[in-house]
Amino acid sequence: MSKWFMSGLIAVACLFGVYLLATALPDKEEVADNGPAFVVPELAVDAETSEQIYQALCISCHGDQLQGGAGPELAHIGSAMTKEQLYKTIKEGRRGMPAFEKRLTEDELLTITTWLASHE
Ligand code: HEC
Repeated sequence: MSKWFMSGLIAVACLFGVYLLATALPDKEEVADNGPAFVVPELAVDAETSEQIYQALCISCHGDQLQGGAGPELAHIGSAMTKEQLYKTIKEGRRGMPAFEKRLTEDELLTITTWLASHE
């Protein structure tokens, strides 16, 4: 009799575990979907590193003075785009603009974003 009681108890515990998994997991996904959007942190402008990145990867399309060429002018991009828009464009690319997700580290992405944002 107590054997049945114990297995009943275990079954209930298992069902409760499954219930928790089923209800708790979608909750977490919701948090990920509706959580606060990514915000580029406030960083000091690192012109030296940024110019190195720019010269290596961006100059061919955006020009040596950010005046543009194959890509648009970036000399005043800080007043046209938010840091978040800049970050996303550089990271993910857009039409003729290549994605730099794989070629730049997160730090480098944030560095060049902050530098471009300072060009108002
Ligand atoms: C192969 C050429 C090419 C390279 C290399 C390139 N870009 Fe671009 N970039 C473009 C083009 C083309 C666009 C316009 C995309 C569009 O029309 O949606 C663009 C758009 C942008 C924009 C948005 C400008 C706007 O006015 O909307 C930013 C910011 C930008 N590039 C930054 C960079 C940075 C930073 C690098 C180097 C890490 C880089 N680009 C390298 C071609 C390039």
